Amino acid sequence: MIKIKDDIYWTGYIDWDLRNFHGYSTPSGSTYNAYLIMDEYPTLIDTVKHYGFQEMLFRIKQIIEPSKIKYIISNHTEMDHSGSIDKLLELAPQAQVVCSPKGQEGLKRHFKKNWKFKVVNTGDTLCIGKKTLSFFLMPMVHWPDSMATYSSLDKILFPNDAFGQHHASCERFADEVGVEIALKEAAKYYANIVMPYGSQVQKALDGLGKLTIDMICPSHGLIWRRKEDINAIVSLYQKWAQYESDKRAVIIYDTMWHSTEKVALKLYELCQQENISVKLLSLKTNDPSDIIADVMGAKIVAVGSPIINNKIFPSIGGFLTYLEGLKPKNRFGFTFGSYGWVKAGFAGLEDSLKNAGIELISEGRYFQYVPDEKELESLKDVVSKMKDVLERSREWQQTSLTHKRS
Ligand code: FEO
Repeated sequence: MIKIKDDIYWTGYIDWDLRNFHGYSTPSGSTYNAYLIMDEYPTLIDTVKHYGFQEMLFRIKQIIEPSKIKYIISNHTEMDHSGSIDKLLELAPQAQVVCSPKGQEGLKRHFKKNWKFKVVNTGDTLCIGKKTLSFFLMPMVHWPDSMATYSSLDKILFPNDAFGQHHASCERFADEVGVEIALKEAAKYYANIVMPYGSQVQKALDGLGKLTIDMICPSHGLIWRRKEDINAIVSLYQKWAQYESDKRAVIIYDTMWHSTEKVALKLYELCQQENISVKLLSLKTNDPSDIIADVMGAKIVAVGSPIINNKIFPSIGGFLTYLEGLKPKNRFGFTFGSYGWVKAGFAGLEDSLKNAGIELISEGRYFQYVPDEKELESLKDVVSKMKDVLERSREWQQTSLTHKRS
């Protein structure tokens, strides 16, 4: 266990081996953060994935006999946080499970048990001794049941998935690992987990903005404790919630016989000539969940595919299905590619981009078999449109934070 403040301990599980979290690549693993608050009524905030139970228990036992736990707060039903509640309740059968109304529904559906529930809503409080905890429902950040818990005495926010990152380390605080690493992981986390729910995130930020926050303890990864780090992550959440991006482009593609690659490389070359900040991302070498983080950071998204059996390439199809669900609003793009004898399949490529919420700035640029240099030069006009869009788009300005922090 690790003491994070007087009478508050981290008792989570470090998942060093995790490399995939429901399709999201996690090259540096993750953690499931549980927090034990020692007071008159000992309270555990969240648990860990089922296979981390023994490690969590070992940490709890360093502080208290588990049977003495009075409350288990379930901020979020997803099994990476609720997965050990059942085993813990076998050791602490008198404990009450504190959760949102949707949390109760979800936990009953997952566990089929009639536990002693204490259902809370926004503004409800729970006195556990010297400390009083309050609750804020945050539907869709990340599931309908999600909520945050706040300790006013400690000025600590426990927002579950919000502000989290998939990162395994011995260190518990962002400033110990390096805040740049934590922010980069937080961006990938937001892009892959929270991006579709910008308006709900903004609502949560508005509600939480009334609190004085000295520490943010998410349910994954590193804890934010320095004022400047809290400012940085909250400001980024405001930016992402509003679907703001940097003045940048990403070119995403896959290729069969290198023709689509030729188009991608020419676009990349022309962007550089126009001083457009651009990334070239092949689906052969980049993981889709990393590409999604780059999409979140870019204003322009160009996607290229070859045609096979009258359809777009399966890797691009899979990526676009994922992108359609994540809906990166307030972005512009176009499609490109190479075909053999029928180009009807490109209609699906354009439709997917539009379904993802990306506004098309040009008709698709498709070439039969192998594009020649003259054809590739014709891409200049679409690059010029990219430049126009980027010049017209406003630079993200960090507004003053509403958070009142000492
Ligand atoms: Fe970390 Fe939505 O669970």
